[in-house]
Amino acid sequence: MQIIMRRAIFPGSFDPLTNGHLDIIRRSLPLFDELIIAVLNNADKKPMFSVEERCSMLRTVIPELKNGGCKLIVDSFSGLTADFARAQKATAIVRGIRAISDYEYELRMALMNRRLEPTIETVFLMAAEEYSYVSSNLMKQVFELGGRVEGLIPEFVESKMREKLKFNETT
Ligand code: PNS
Repeated sequence: MQIIMRRAIFPGSFDPLTNGHLDIIRRSLPLFDELIIAVLNNADKKPMFSVEERCSMLRTVIPELKNGGCKLIVDSFSGLTADFARAQKATAIVRGIRAISDYEYELRMALMNRRLEPTIETVFLMAAEEYSYVSSNLMKQVFELGGRVEGLIPEFVESKMREKLKFNETT
């Protein structure tokens, strides 16, 4: 009997990881045997956290999730998501949809990824309502201007953001 492994990738910038991302990861767990959280190493952007820092934060936070048998892996990649997914022998790309405003961008990406690699399907999961307005960019902006973000990002990530802000203020 051939055992079919359901392996998916969840690509993103994760700069930084939010509770919205964790919600999507949690919802993916029952659907796949293996989920690779794939952190994009995007040389064009000036991120708050390096790709190593983002991977390290994910590796610290995700063991708190009850994985129910789904193996969770954190990895980084450069280049095309479709190429990375193919190289990992994934059959699905997971993306979260928060509101209808996400749909157009996500649809374009899903169709392009399908054109690049027709054997890989994009699976959209709906984020919980309480995170429907949570994005990494909004979290960074509010945090940097002194606003409260508790409950919207993992505590560990918030502590790292505090460290980063302090470091930037003193350098
Ligand atoms: O968390 P984000 O920033 O919304 O994630 C966007 C991401 C990383 C999924 C997207 O920018 C991406 O796939 N980039 C890799 C380059 C690529 O494959 N571009 C074509 C997508 S159709």
